[in-house]
Amino acid sequence: MGNLVFVAKETVGDETRVSASPDTVKKMRSLGFDVVIEAGAGLRSLISDADYEAQGARIGSLSDAAEADVVLKVRRPTGEEITHYKNGAVVIAIMDPYGNEAALAEIARAGLTSFAMELMPRITRAQSMDVLSSQANLAGYQAVIEAAAVYGRALPMMMTAAGTVPAAKVFVMGAGVAGLQAIATARRLGAQVSATDVRPAAKEQVASLGAKFIAVEDEEFKAAETAGGYAKEMSRDYQAKQAALVAEHISKQDIVITTALIPGRPAPRLVNREMLKAMRAGAVAVDLAVERGGNIEGSEFGAVADVEGVKVIGYPNMAGRIPASASALYAKNLVTFLETMVDKNSKTLGLNRADELIKATMLTDAGEVVHPNFVDPDQATVNKGDL
Ligand code: NAI
Repeated sequence: MGNLVFVAKETVGDETRVSASPDTVKKMRSLGFDVVIEAGAGLRSLISDADYEAQGARIGSLSDAAEADVVLKVRRPTGEEITHYKNGAVVIAIMDPYGNEAALAEIARAGLTSFAMELMPRITRAQSMDVLSSQANLAGYQAVIEAAAVYGRALPMMMTAAGTVPAAKVFVMGAGVAGLQAIATARRLGAQVSATDVRPAAKEQVASLGAKFIAVEDEEFKAAETAGGYAKEMSRDYQAKQAALVAEHISKQDIVITTALIPGRPAPRLVNREMLKAMRAGAVAVDLAVERGGNIEGSEFGAVADVEGVKVIGYPNMAGRIPASASALYAKNLVTFLETMVDKNSKTLGLNRADELIKATMLTDAGEVVHPNFVDPDQATVNKGDL
C-alpha cells in the first residue's frame, strides 16, 4: 500500500475551491499514492464524488485524515481540523501566514510539516506550482466579468441602426498577473483600456496588450522593482504625484479595476472618495485587493458598495467565483509540487529539505515553526530549513 493523500473539504468561509481534480487524482495514483476525498469536497467546483472515484480515489470522511501522510487543502486548516491529522503529516495549502503566527505555532505543535503554496519562488522550475499566478490570472478575468455585469452599459462600441453605443473606458491599476489578464479580458470585450503600475517592466507588457500606460515615470519609478520582480512600497512624494495623475485620468473612466499588492504589506490605497466622486454616473470599480485592506476607499469586503455614486465591488476570493477553473489550476499546482516530494524509485514520500522549493515554502516541521519569516525573532538562532 502506498502513502495516503487526504483531500479535505474546505471549511472556512464560503471557499468554493477544492485541492484536487479528477486529473490530479489520476496523477497521484500514478505516483503511488492512495487518495481519499472527503465526501462532497468537489461539489462547489462542479466535481462529483463519482468523478473522483472514476480516477481511483476513495470517498471518505474527515476521520480518514488520521491515516493520511499528506493532507491537501485550499485554505490553512483550522485548529479543529488539525486535531484530525496525524503527527508528521505533510499539509499543503494556501496558508496565509503573514499575521497568523499563532495559527502557525498551533500547526507546528500538532507535529505537522506544513507548506505555504503562496511562498513558492518565482523561478522557472516552479512556474507550474505558482498558485499566486494561477489564481490571480482567473481573478483578473473574473473582475472584468463582474464589472461588466453591473455596469448597465455595453463594453464594446456598437454601431447600430438605432444609434451608436460608445466603448467603455476601463482603467486597470496594478499590471501584475491579475491586472494583465484584466486588461486582456477588457480588450477582448471591446473596451478602451489603460493601465498603470509602479514597476517599469509593466509598461511594455501593458503596451503589448494594446492598452495605454499611465504613470509618473521619474527616477524612483525606474528603480521600483525588487529582484523578485515585485513592487516596492513607493515614497510619499511619488505616491502624491502618481495620485494627481491618476485622479485626472480616473475622472474620465467608466470602470476602474485595482489589483495592486505589495508582498507582506497592506495594499496601497490608490483610489479615494474624491476620485470616485469625479467619475460619471453609473461608473463601476472593482477592488481586487479588498482582502489585504483594499486599494479603494470605501470598498466593502464581500459587497457591492455605493461610494459617491460608484458601484464598488469588494468581493474576496475572486478566483473562487469561477471555482471549476480555479480548482483545476490550483490542483495542478499542488500535484506538481507534491511530485517533487516523491522518491521516483520507491514511489514513497521523501522530503528533500535542502531543495530550494521546500526551503522557501516550508512553514513548520518537527514540532516547530521553521520558516525564517515567521520564526520568533528572539529564538531565531538558526534557520532550521537549512538543517
Ligand atoms: P502582486 O499581486 O504582488 O501585485 C500586483 C501588481 O500591483 C504588481 O504588478 C505591482 O507592481 C502593482 N503595484 C503595487 N503597488 C502599486 C501602486 N502603488 N500603484 C500601481 N501598481 C502597484 O504582483 P503579481 O501579479 O504577483 O506579479 C508581480 C510580478 O511578478 C509581475 O512582473 C509578474 O509578471 C511577475 N511574475 C513572475 C513569475 C515568474 O515565474 N517568473 C510568475 C508570476 C509573476
